[in-house]
Amino acid sequence: MWPYPKIIAHRGGGSLAPENTLAAFECGFNHGFRAVEFDVMLTKDLIPVVVHDEELGRTIAGEGLICDTLAADLVQMDAGSWFGAKFAHCRVPLYQEVLDFCSQRGIWMNVEIKPATGFEQITGQIVAQFTSDFYQHKSAQLPLFSSFSLTAIAAARATAAHIPRGVLFDQIPINWLAHLRELEAITLHTNQRHLSQLVAEQIQRAGYGLSCYTVNEISRAQELLAWGVDALFTDRLTLIGPDFA
Ligand code: G3P
Ligand code: MG
Repeated sequence: MWPYPKIIAHRGGGSLAPENTLAAFECGFNHGFRAVEFDVMLTKDLIPVVVHDEELGRTIAGEGLICDTLAADLVQMDAGSWFGAKFAHCRVPLYQEVLDFCSQRGIWMNVEIKPATGFEQITGQIVAQFTSDFYQHKSAQLPLFSSFSLTAIAAARATAAHIPRGVLFDQIPINWLAHLRELEAITLHTNQRHLSQLVAEQIQRAGYGLSCYTVNEISRAQELLAWGVDALFTDRLTLIGPDFA
């Protein structure tokens, strides 16, 4: 049902390093995590990069949109100072760099396809093609795609059906099963805030993997695992460590 690690470092290094940077992935690895989640978006020149927000400004020192910025310009920008002066050297990594980093260290990946508005189909397609090409001659375990965008997941399936897929819901809709079936997804990822035990059990009974983001309290982590939730994304790498489950 869930052939992956149970505790997953959210955005690479949770709250210990600037999200979605190589420093974050290194931090997660050094804390014993062998499973990470991160977000992938396309630049103006359609290069997949690891970043969460559509807009520059919160984590990247700059203005405008990722989809209006060339990759060569984006990777020059400071993506670490917002977190702390000693991270001023951090940059937005290319998806390629994160695939290299994680696959070299045996870190399993949940690749969240995070399309900018209006780029859902092409983001799913390009990320899936890129991933498929990367793994073509490798025997390593494939990552798991997920997305809030059903269009992006459908495009990933059309492009690389062999790479497993999950669907992300902030709040699980009543027709969740129809969506999972249509997309041939194997997992459902949801906001822990809105999950009830009843729905968790329905998802489990239907044979799907179930994971929750973002779980940062021990009592809630224990409760969700007791309900049968398969995996948790956490920002609190030292509190809810890789061996928590
Ligand atoms: O993939 C789980 C979680 O990362 C989804 O929310 O906004 O943190 O990407 P967000
Ligand atoms: Mg995410």
